[in-house]
Amino acid sequence: MKIAVVLGSTRPGRLGDRVCRFVMNQAALVDGAEFALLDLADHPMPFFDEPVAPLANHDRRPSAAVRAWLAAMAAADAYVFVTPEYNHAPPAVLKNALDFLATEADGKPASIVSYSTTAHGGILAGQQLRPALSKAGMLPLPKSLPLAHADRLLGPTGELVERSDRARRVAGFVPASLRDLVAHTRALNALSEARP
Ligand SMILES: Cc1cc2nc3c(=O)[nH]c(=O)nc-3n(C[C@H](O)[C@H](O)[C@H](O)COP(=O)(O)O)c2cc1C
Repeated sequence: MKIAVVLGSTRPGRLGDRVCRFVMNQAALVDGAEFALLDLADHPMPFFDEPVAPLANHDRRPSAAVRAWLAAMAAADAYVFVTPEYNHAPPAVLKNALDFLATEADGKPASIVSYSTTAHGGILAGQQLRPALSKAGMLPLPKSLPLAHADRLLGPTGELVERSDRARRVAGFVPASLRDLVAHTRALNALSEARP
């Protein structure tokens, strides 16, 4: 089982690197899945520029960059979307990448880890991402994982540097949520195999 950890910030100096390292460190504690980073910075795509919506386009000719992104999404069985919050929404670069999807992510579960340098933990970005993931065919799991003040919480290699109760809670619930994602993925794979 392959799970792609999609990083939704592409800006230089992004805090998202630390958050993704943290998620990958926690993923190493989880059995039953291979987690791999899928960094949008490695997939520089144009703003969505196709004449017809992907699902309705029978003569689609995406650029090499878009093809690579679609192939990476198709190769995964599930996703963890790691998103910052820009103006109470997910970054445009992440929404843009989702707009290119046709059926690559259909029926696959997705977890949302949001973060910010503020007390909100990117909760509004996570809430806005949820319907976009659903419309793109994914099944977002019910519980989001907001990381407030992620800059204080995490060090450069994604290690927890804050000594607090909430840091201990985060260290517990993130691997538990990743295990839950693995369980959902297994169940959904079985369901799709059982379908006629
Ligand atoms: C364009 C922009 C808009 C932002 N808007 C919000 C916001 O609405 N809510 C919030 O909690 N933080 C906001 N922030 C602060 C981010 O939480 C912080 O910059 C964080 O490091 C962004 O993630 P990144 O560094 O991985 O891109 C914003 C930052 C930027 C650059």
